[in-house]
Amino acid sequence: MGARAWLWLVLASTTPACAVGASAPEPPRVERLYVSRCGSCHMRVERGSRTHEELTRAFARHRRRLRLTSEEWAQMADYLSAPAAP
Ligand code: HEC
Repeated sequence: MGARAWLWLVLASTTPACAVGASAPEPPRVERLYVSRCGSCHMRVERGSRTHEELTRAFARHRRRLRLTSEEWAQMADYLSAPAAP
């Protein structure tokens, strides 16, 4: 009885750590979209070089150029308007 409870506790406490470790090296989906999709028609717009508003207006003209969901477009604007990591 006591041993079983202990085993359960060990399993329960190690599982979240494994999940985090497994997903950490994956680049965010929006970054992969940016790298794979945004350089085919023009030079990739650099992160932090456009305001959120400029990006949103440009993306309104992009809806028919490439198919991303509106959630992905929103994430793209957030991702690109953030200053690049030092
Ligand atoms: C199918 C071709 C195509 C793809 C793919 C494309 N663009 Fe564009 N983009 C254009 C064209 C053409 C223009 C110039 C006309 C305009 O501004 O709408 C442009 C202009 C822009 C502008 C405004 C001009 C500037 O330099 O500020 C931004 C910002 C931009 N693109 C970002 C992106 C991002 C981010 C992606 C990836 C999600 C992307 N584009 C993918 C064709 C494309």
